[in-house]
Amino acid sequence: MSRGGPTCSRPEVERAARVLANGGLVAFPTETVYGLGASARDPGALRRIFSVKGRPPDHPLIVHIAASHHLLAWASYIPDAARRLADAFWPGPLTLILPKAPGVPDEVTGGASTVGVRVPAHPVAQALLRHFGDGIAAPSANRYGRVSPTRARHVADALGDVVDLILDGGTCEIGLESTIVDLSDGTPRLLRPGAITRAMLEHVLGSSISLANPHGTPAPGQKPSHYAPKARVVLAAAEQAEATAARLAAEGCRVGHLAVAPSHHPAVWWLPLSLTVDKQAASLYQRLHEADALQLDIVVASLPRGHGIAEAIADRLIRAAGLGES
Ligand code: TXA
Ligand code: MG
Repeated sequence: MSRGGPTCSRPEVERAARVLANGGLVAFPTETVYGLGASARDPGALRRIFSVKGRPPDHPLIVHIAASHHLLAWASYIPDAARRLADAFWPGPLTLILPKAPGVPDEVTGGASTVGVRVPAHPVAQALLRHFGDGIAAPSANRYGRVSPTRARHVADALGDVVDLILDGGTCEIGLESTIVDLSDGTPRLLRPGAITRAMLEHVLGSSISLANPHGTPAPGQKPSHYAPKARVVLAAAEQAEATAARLAAEGCRVGHLAVAPSHHPAVWWLPLSLTVDKQAASLYQRLHEADALQLDIVVASLPRGHGIAEAIADRLIRAAGLGES
């Protein structure tokens, strides 16, 4: 295992591309979260992703490509709506689900007839894709069901002994996984909210788009308790959160409170939240990783109000709390 600096050098990226070509696993930064990459054409390498993550084999992987003109290598058909979304938001934090092209390995699609594709914007991800010259399948670089990594250190802590190389590209700017839109059957459906918000999608599509599973049936591979720290996440109304944290601490639990303002209770750990929702999104997983490092039993959190990226933060907190229906 080796690491580059926050902006990886060319030899480091070239080495990572060789590791991928030889069937290895490379963790790399994207603007959303760190990915655990393998050649999307190499069934053996893809199977290794599932074994090191402990991920069930029927959970599909996202194929990362360098630019939208590679799309037809992975998708058999590109609806007009997909073309418009790709033109508007790629490179960027948007994954499109499309009918798969012939020959896409079953390990990528989970045996389904569709494939998820995205063009990441992070310069290190872009450099890696260009040097590798083909698609890179990459789930978030965490163990199955745990919090996604937003720093190279998170990857090293969770998977350092099993990945072949970690490219360190600094802290992920967005901090939440990509928005996923299913365009495989005529009506666009939002499968996972993210930094490309519903309003942004609707503006480009010219029609409304609903969340396919508002905390209901997850997209394949999105079990409700995804994104969970080891601590139990307890959701409380903002006005009651501090009292809830204090009560749980008084019961003898190690309690953290994810909040903008510090806790008044001496036995409650403050997990600071920024003032703006964009910054809250960017630091949410860092705070949940800190909760794990502090070996907290419980994290008390409140759902942000409003639309936009607040919807993505709420989605992840609800899943972290294990409250998404299955
Ligand atoms: O931001 C991201 O999307 C990050 C970075 C690394 O790109 N990746 C990521 O991958 O979040 P992962 O595996 O943790 O989540 C991908 C999700 C799966 O859980 C699944 O729900 C959905 O994408 N997905 C992938 N292919 C799909 C398909 N063919 N149909 C429906 N959902 C699919
Ligand atoms: Mg994930």
